[in-house]
Amino acid sequence: MRKSDVIQLIFHRPPPTDPKHEKGLAFAPTNIALVKYWGKRDAELNLPMTSSLSIALPDKGAMTTVMLQDQAQETVIVNDREIPSDSEFVKRITQFLDLFRPEKKWHLNINIKMNIPIAAGLASSACGFASLISALNDLFGWQLAAHQLSILARLGSGSAARSFWTGFVEWHAGVQSDGMDSVAEPLSVEWPGLCVGLLTMSDKEKPISSREGMQRTVNSSILYTAWPKKVTQDLAILKQALHVKNFPLLGGTAESNALTMHATMLASWPPVCYFLPETIAAMQQIWSLRRQGLALYFTEDAGPNLKLLFLEEDIGAVKEHFPSVEVVNVFEKE
Ligand code: DP6
Repeated sequence: MRKSDVIQLIFHRPPPTDPKHEKGLAFAPTNIALVKYWGKRDAELNLPMTSSLSIALPDKGAMTTVMLQDQAQETVIVNDREIPSDSEFVKRITQFLDLFRPEKKWHLNINIKMNIPIAAGLASSACGFASLISALNDLFGWQLAAHQLSILARLGSGSAARSFWTGFVEWHAGVQSDGMDSVAEPLSVEWPGLCVGLLTMSDKEKPISSREGMQRTVNSSILYTAWPKKVTQDLAILKQALHVKNFPLLGGTAESNALTMHATMLASWPPVCYFLPETIAAMQQIWSLRRQGLALYFTEDAGPNLKLLFLEEDIGAVKEHFPSVEVVNVFEKE
């Protein structure tokens, strides 16, 4: 099964690419997985080995504008800086666009504004691809539903499948080889007072992309066989925690899930390690604060930065111990 087959299944004809407006514009929030996606059963379609569950940060993400341009290639601008056309990011975007223009007849000016550190494990590819496909949907008037956009965005980056909703989102692994059932959906649960703290230790580009890191883990880590079992358990516990609003259960499950994912990576060869000394120091501080009674937990993706999980009533204490933390009150209404 190839990506072009999925395009055919969604559009049933070549995707219409006559612009309906001068510009296409869309925002997609970034999402932080509480139960992680790590490992693919199909690398072409980004079909995951397991389901995953995330929380979206409502105002943090990517705003993307697309316009047709009279040039022989794409122009990609991120936060007012043009990205070199031979960079990995532009290559991935170009390959993604090729799916919608088999004859390469048109090219785009793509302007992405992100208010999160790029490529430092803050899911920038997730909100990047989600906002790009939504902007194309706007430009070409495709009128696709969110679940269809989720399937298309996954072809660009797996975690992008979850970036079409706010709140809690589950991405179902699915079983079909065409991936039409590997789609995300929002959970109808809110948790007023739930906070995510972004603790940035480094905003440098990560040494190993999540794509390469997860492939290496699947291929070489003996611990990876335990991962699907851990995810199944954690998804069930996390849903229970959401249902009864048990915060320590949510925080503990998310933290344990992230640490297990990193353990599978450490057992890969060559090892995959995203920890910096500062990452470990922050973890130890969190564990020590927890022993003193603070309900503070963390999760970590494919980068050295931590995302803290805590409740609104503890914002003051968290800021006191981590002055640089950026707090997002996830369900706060304006
Ligand atoms: C650790 O979605 O970036 O953030 O599908 O290869 O583009 P590709 O990988 P990507 O992986 C994200 C991994 C993660 C966990 C998660 O977001 O669930």
